Amino acid sequence: MENTQPVVIRPSRDADVDAMLAIYRHHIRRGIEEALDDSGTPQPDDLRDRRKNLRNRRFPHLVATSGGEIVGYAYVVLFRKRPAYRYTVKHSIYVHHDHLGRGIGRLLMRELIDACAAAGFRQMIGYIDADNTASLGLHEAFGFSTAGLLRGVAYRYGRWADSVMVQRSLGAGSTVPPVL
Ligand SMILES: CC(C)(COP(=O)(O)OP(=O)(O)OC[C@H]1O[C@@H](n2cnc3c(N)ncnc32)[C@H](O)[C@@H]1OP(=O)(O)O)[C@@H](O)C(=O)NCCC(=O)NCCS
Repeated sequence: MENTQPVVIRPSRDADVDAMLAIYRHHIRRGIEEALDDSGTPQPDDLRDRRKNLRNRRFPHLVATSGGEIVGYAYVVLFRKRPAYRYTVKHSIYVHHDHLGRGIGRLLMRELIDACAAAGFRQMIGYIDADNTASLGLHEAFGFSTAGLLRGVAYRYGRWADSVMVQRSLGAGSTVPPVL
């Protein structure tokens, strides 16, 4: 039966890790991992530690739930580790394959942007496969602009693929210095 329960966005918890991993694995199953072994896939403990680190450092890490089920997740990491880049984050967003097109990506993106702006970040960067129409559409809908095209940076389905780099400012963006 189709899940028509309302979707709620909340911070992720340790207990959500397995469900997040299942969502992630489904989306990458037919991608680069197909050509490799499974060693590049994060294991539950890795993801648990990573999630904890992210939350400790106040990087938003969110899940979407519907009828008690995890139907998507979104989080950010630092764009680069050097201190000068501490106001810029790089995000990821994944929606469960059975729940695509229900507006969940939109809800996660809205909350992620708001949480990152509230945390004082000023720029948000995403890398999107050039043929990922859904993700390109979602980012465009949230005011991301194309910052660059990275050619041939991924290899999947037996061919090289391009990535589109997108960017959006948060809060005051680069118009005023950061609040230290
Ligand atoms: C990209 C993704 C997160 C979108 O999530 P979703 O819940 O299906 O998207 P929504 O239903 O909230 O749609 C929001 C907007 O995204 C765009 N969009 C979503 N699916 C689309 C599609 N198949 N084609 C074109 N645009 C699409 C539209 O602009 C849409 O707004 P609209 O409904 O007003 O037209 C989802 O497809 C996904 O998890 N994909 C696999 C993982 C991935 O690629 N993540 C992004 C990595 S950068």
